[in-house]
Amino acid sequence: MQIPLSQPDITQKEIDAVTEVMTSGTLSIGSRILEFEQKVAAICQRRYAVGVSSGTAGLHAAMVAAGIGPGDEVITTPFSFVASANCILYVGAKPVFVDINTKTLNIDTTLVEAAITPRTKAIVAVEAFGHPGGMVEIEQIARRNELILIEDCCEGFGGFAGDRPIGSFGRAGVFGFYPNKQITTGEGGMIVTDDDRFADVCRALRNQGREGMAWLAHQRLGYNYRLSEIQAAIGSVQCDRLEEILENRRRVAQMYMTRLLDNRFLILPTITDDVHMSWFVFVVRLNDLFGPTERDEIIKGLRASGVGSNNYFPPIHLQPYIAGPYGFKEGDFPRCEFVAGRTLALPFYGKMTELQVDHVVAVLNEQLEKVQMVRKPRI
Ligand SMILES: Cc1ncc(COP(=O)(O)O)c(C=O)c1O
Repeated sequence: MQIPLSQPDITQKEIDAVTEVMTSGTLSIGSRILEFEQKVAAICQRRYAVGVSSGTAGLHAAMVAAGIGPGDEVITTPFSFVASANCILYVGAKPVFVDINTKTLNIDTTLVEAAITPRTKAIVAVEAFGHPGGMVEIEQIARRNELILIEDCCEGFGGFAGDRPIGSFGRAGVFGFYPNKQITTGEGGMIVTDDDRFADVCRALRNQGREGMAWLAHQRLGYNYRLSEIQAAIGSVQCDRLEEILENRRRVAQMYMTRLLDNRFLILPTITDDVHMSWFVFVVRLNDLFGPTERDEIIKGLRASGVGSNNYFPPIHLQPYIAGPYGFKEGDFPRCEFVAGRTLALPFYGKMTELQVDHVVAVLNEQLEKVQMVRKPRI
């Protein structure tokens, strides 16, 4: 049985929507993007949404629109996909990493204020794996210290922290719609904000700096970060199906939780009462009897048995292009490094059947026992 790590949830409705666009004659800058933007804004209770070509493009545009540039410091997490730190580098600012809370896997809110200096201009806060833990506190910290908060919510579309939708925190939120995300447009992203000027600037940035209707008048340095009508049409249908999509993912997450709850080798995601997860991935952690070598062995074993798996995420501060130039080394963010050395993502998508989940769990247990047996003599 081959089980991939992820799979998009596409139905005939998305296919029909694409066909309709293809025959409409308008493949970019049409009504589909406006419709998709309105739906995303409504879902995360924001006034404005600006569709862009990827989550990375959205983060970059948000940083430019926020006026962040050389000489500024931006606080962020080292435990994320690299794009959340790259957007800081794109605008010539300096990333200042803060270690993580080992339960939420997000930035440790109790450490943020100690990292603020007179140069700190913003916080890029990430909801790792869609977990909104700490966002309410981070918003308060940003307010108290007059910092701009950009929410990198690429992994959390449709989730809530208490009654606050993911995407509703700070100056702006940025979603990504890559095929492994809760909803997908193939490639794509969306900036959401309540600030009309910020939204206007983001719209100009995605469209080569144009602010008016004139095609060859460019008010600022911009980019081609547009989302096509084809992508927007897919996204629009995915928004209509959001409840169904998230419910299917919840069902699969619950199946894993039930089957792995008592596993003595694993630490499962921590979901408190105020966390309403929109499940992005299903990542488990090995307990501290295991290290990165055993984790890698287990991933290799899973893959060899046809079960997709990956190590989400290697610490950003140790990626070669950041560690060298910025002088980071192993041990700088010990909690992030400890967690990153022991995480493994299991196959996760809404269409997974009970049989497939059972198979993944059986193969995982087999691998855990095997690696545990090999380790024993070394203790
Ligand atoms: C936390 C985070 N930020 C940013 C991105 C970038 O999104 P995209 O791949 O759409 O550029 C991703 C996507 O994987 C992500 O997980």
